[in-house]
Amino acid sequence: MRVVKAFARQGYEKEKFDKDNWKKYIKGKFLLLMHSLFWPLSDIVLTTQMLFGFVYAAYMAIHGEITVGDYMAYIGLLLWLIFPIRNLGRLIVQTSTGMVSYARLMEITKQTREDLTSGKVQPTEPARGEIEFKNVSFIYSDGKQEVIKDISFHIKPGQSIALLGSTGSGKTSLVNLLPRFHEYTSGEILLDGVDLKDYPRKYLREQIGIVQQEPFLFSRSIRENILYGVGRSVTQEEIEAAAKAAAVHDVILSFPDGYNTIVGEKGVTLSGGQKQRVTIARTILKNPKILILDDSTSSVDTETEAEIRKALDDLMEHRTTFIIAHRIQSVMKADHILVLDKGQIIQKGNHEELLTQFGGMYRKIYDIQTRIDEELEQEIARVN
Ligand code: UTP
Ligand code: MG
Repeated sequence: MRVVKAFARQGYEKEKFDKDNWKKYIKGKFLLLMHSLFWPLSDIVLTTQMLFGFVYAAYMAIHGEITVGDYMAYIGLLLWLIFPIRNLGRLIVQTSTGMVSYARLMEITKQTREDLTSGKVQPTEPARGEIEFKNVSFIYSDGKQEVIKDISFHIKPGQSIALLGSTGSGKTSLVNLLPRFHEYTSGEILLDGVDLKDYPRKYLREQIGIVQQEPFLFSRSIRENILYGVGRSVTQEEIEAAAKAAAVHDVILSFPDGYNTIVGEKGVTLSGGQKQRVTIARTILKNPKILILDDSTSSVDTETEAEIRKALDDLMEHRTTFIIAHRIQSVMKADHILVLDKGQIIQKGNHEELLTQFGGMYRKIYDIQTRIDEELEQEIARVN
């Protein structure tokens, strides 16, 4: 609605809706017309027919051409046949509308259910977090092009890896392969030396905490949102500690109902940055072995980001972390940095190594960002 209003397209949308609605109205009206013709007409035709049959048969019975028994049988047969045949008209209409609904239902029913529990291995211990990509390529099931092309890298347990790259370069697609939201088309991804496809999905998702690029909150209380998927009993203190680490505790307390505030349509609408921080708190509480941060501080101001980054730094210790960010500051501390372009790795290394590759994409981004920062500082110094 906001987009429609912002572009002042109410008239256009209304017209578009009216057009479709008008088509439905015309069809409905036609159906009604057919019904109102069919029933009275068939009433007239059938009852005339029946009357004629009754009278003529009675005439024959009176003159002894048929017996009274035949007459009764004939009338019975007529009544038994005529009304069901007449109802066929209605049945045909109902069946065809029914078939449309049936096809829609089948579309959903036929979807294969995601198998969460079966796998060649059934680990009972938490993962160590060693991850290896071997020539991994991936095409979306509805896509034609490879969005991930021949990607290989290796991270040891507890290390961090940053993905940097222009928008659409495949960063989100790459990390979404880890919880097996999609199946990679070729190559291998190994977790602790075992192919991801051999693990039960449920196990993988218990090991992985993901702060998604587009934060999603349920229309429930903030507490329930933070608790979502934690899978153990948690005290209020723990919830608050997670919220504090994500720099959202004070915001939550500023709402009249505090942690019981309902989010979304029926309650308070949170700002983009607030939503993002609630999802960070959720992941902090989940305490996963593998952490994925997909642009997770993009809607947060620099000061709050620094605060969250400190909390995340603590969280990142002893766990394998994927960081996706656009700011060099957010990725420079990572053990490995991959620079992606159109689904391919174009540069690989740590911050120092990549800085020395003059002419490389990383160096370019670094120069641009530091220049902007310097210009800002000079500007601020000049104003003061
Ligand atoms: P990504 O969503 O992986 O890009 O899409 P990204 O690097 O994370 O980009 P930003 O920084 O968040 O903006 C990579 C490619 O995959 C396609 C997109 O069209 C894009 O070209 N794609 C993405 C699909 O075909 N289907 C999807 O469901 C998602
Ligand atoms: Mg993305």
